[in-house]
Amino acid sequence: MIKKVAVIKGDGIGPEIVTEAMKVLDKVAEKFGHRFDYTQLLMGGASIDANGVPLTEETIEACKASDAVLMGSIGGDTNTSPWYKLPADKRPEAGLLGIRKALGLFANLRPCLLYPQLSGACPLKEEIAAKGFDMLIMRELTGGLYFGARKTEEVDGVTTATDTLVYSEKEIRRIAVKAFEVAMKRRKKVTSVDKANVLDSSRLWRKVVNEVAKDYPEVTLEHMLVDNSAMQLVKDPAQFDVMVTENMFGDILSDEASMITGSIGMLPSASMNETKFGLYEPSGGSAPDIAGQDKANPIATILSAAMMLRYSFDLTDEADAVEAAVVKVLDQGYRTGDIMSEGCTKVGCAEMGSLIAANI
Ligand code: IPM
Ligand code: MG
Repeated sequence: MIKKVAVIKGDGIGPEIVTEAMKVLDKVAEKFGHRFDYTQLLMGGASIDANGVPLTEETIEACKASDAVLMGSIGGDTNTSPWYKLPADKRPEAGLLGIRKALGLFANLRPCLLYPQLSGACPLKEEIAAKGFDMLIMRELTGGLYFGARKTEEVDGVTTATDTLVYSEKEIRRIAVKAFEVAMKRRKKVTSVDKANVLDSSRLWRKVVNEVAKDYPEVTLEHMLVDNSAMQLVKDPAQFDVMVTENMFGDILSDEASMITGSIGMLPSASMNETKFGLYEPSGGSAPDIAGQDKANPIATILSAAMMLRYSFDLTDEADAVEAAVVKVLDQGYRTGDIMSEGCTKVGCAEMGSLIAANI
């Protein structure tokens, strides 16, 4: 199989972690007889430096012409980087939001799994960590507060800022369908997270999710308020299978969920449209403080590449092989700094990538 992969290495640790994911993909190609043709593209801060804008038409078109996009991370230190002196719509994050919208990537899948080997790195009480957890957060990615109209203006001499949270029935239905479809392949439970005791958009969300649920009688549906969900995630994460929620709630809850897996460096993500096309990136950020020091954990990006094999290319055995290689390397006791614990062997980003590739 020959696949065209658009590669956005991005900023901070992005280039290092993506290089390791490509190392692993190349091993998969060699072992299983495929070919991945890469096109390197700029986005975020790197694009600002080269083109003056965080996202160009050229990058969007090249992504559209590919079978999938593999991405590292974008952005810099918001306190010190000159990128954050630019107007908001010219900053690195605007590139990321722009590409998600341009490619119609409305469904963001963030699997959060506690590897038993890493239960020592989980900050929760031992009895909670011992139960383990394996959930998938399905975050709506192209609607809600992050895309609604916003403005800052003078109202009666007082500076006032407005953001709008808009959801249409159609937007809610398509993400709900994705959640139920995924749940059918997992433990058949969906937790829909909203703030229906306050927000109109949440009341519509709940109504549409209930309608979609009728088509999936085998799936158990529960509704949970977002504040309670934040609490339940640290109290009893094992209760969750698929959690579906709107853009901002998903942004916040997925960071919380990532922390209890031991490190945000372990969490992959896939952003999909209606087809098999997707953009695959680690859930974590660009970690400018450790960039270029061979300290970053490439596992989230390598697992994102595995999601690309599984969801965009239907290469199930290949995806399984990558995930199994990650487990083997953890079993062998190799750890990057973020997940290091006593008795393990500390390795850098490049060595971690090589070890995983060697186990395929
Ligand atoms: C994420 C990030 C982005 C988001 C930022 C960088 C715009 O936090 O992917 O979770 O909020 O979606
Ligand atoms: Mg986030």
